Amino acid sequence: MNIQDLKSKFIEKYGEGEVEVFFSPGRVNLIGEHTDYNGGFVFPCALTFGTYCLVRRVERPSFRFASLNLPFETELNMDQLTTPLDDKWVNYPLGVLAQFVKKEIQFDGGADLMFYGNVPNGAGLSSSAALEVVTAVAINDVFQTGLDRVELVKMSQKAEHEFAGVHCGIMDQFASGMGSKDHAIFLNCDTLEYDLVPVKLEGAKIVISNTNSPHKLDSGKYNERVAECTAAVEAISKVKPIKNLGELSLEAFNSVADAIEDQVILNRARHVVSEIQRTSDAVAELKSGNIDVFGALMNASHDSLRDDYEVTGLQLDTMVEEARKIEGVIGSRMTGGGFGGCTVSIVKDDAVDTFIEEVGKNYEARTGIKPEFYVAEIGEGGCKLS
Ligand code: GLA
Repeated sequence: MNIQDLKSKFIEKYGEGEVEVFFSPGRVNLIGEHTDYNGGFVFPCALTFGTYCLVRRVERPSFRFASLNLPFETELNMDQLTTPLDDKWVNYPLGVLAQFVKKEIQFDGGADLMFYGNVPNGAGLSSSAALEVVTAVAINDVFQTGLDRVELVKMSQKAEHEFAGVHCGIMDQFASGMGSKDHAIFLNCDTLEYDLVPVKLEGAKIVISNTNSPHKLDSGKYNERVAECTAAVEAISKVKPIKNLGELSLEAFNSVADAIEDQVILNRARHVVSEIQRTSDAVAELKSGNIDVFGALMNASHDSLRDDYEVTGLQLDTMVEEARKIEGVIGSRMTGGGFGGCTVSIVKDDAVDTFIEEVGKNYEARTGIKPEFYVAEIGEGGCKLS
């Protein structure tokens, strides 16, 4: 749907008048998984698909919400903006509005909002972060609340915690809010310092493979991993006080690892600490043009997520195994929270068609599920379109 079509839909629903259009992207993470809530490094990039938000300010003191993807719509008064609804998509934009209210920002009148997203839902490409960030960017702009972009990103993350119950790190919202065309973001999730790194793959492309086995972040497994990392920090802190696992180099971790008695917790911590090291190594290799080493680190990342962190599962592992059999695949790993969703592979230009055909066929034969493939383009972060 183009912007004109979206505006027509908005006018059909809410009537003639001015309408402003905003967009925020989904993301794919190249490496650095389950490190963000441990104060570690991540390396995501914004995609060119995402969520559109059409807005019109109104004098009436209420907010109306509608989506072109899902049927539920509602109108909420000012005093209803801080209470989650029962299990509805509206909770994502509502959770963001609640953050504005919590900052004691007074809305002078309300707004009509309409959303349209083209990130596949449940694919682990951050459709929910795109929805949160686009709301934050749009509300900040039309109500001229003057918050800076990083603040909007943090408010979007809080919306996910408080209105979706997922104790996520900041990677997805940061990538959606701060992405830059043809760059990946090397982000220190502890300090929020970041570096935009050009993604120059010299004759290769980023291919996203959707297992079409939805990831279920809200199923509790994600929060369970967050809690396991907290348990690791507590155990290590008995011998060396730390705030999060991201403070430990691999060497420092090895010297205190004995303090963790539970084997599962030890495995989780080993993944986190080694993944943080792999991420900074991978960024250095990409900057030096060593794409093959970058790919090898992606492979090692997946293996660690499979064996130590246990967030892959049959579909993600099958997709990666089949991908690695194709000549011209430089690296392949799961991306995002895991438990289903997508993989990301770096594939030489002339192998992309074979990759899609062969991996598609073999994955379907082994799992009974038809996958989908997207050749990714790296886009801009959240912005106003018109
Ligand atoms: C999800 C979360 C992120 C991050 C990834 C795993 O996408 O929303 O904060 O933890 O999982 O790296």
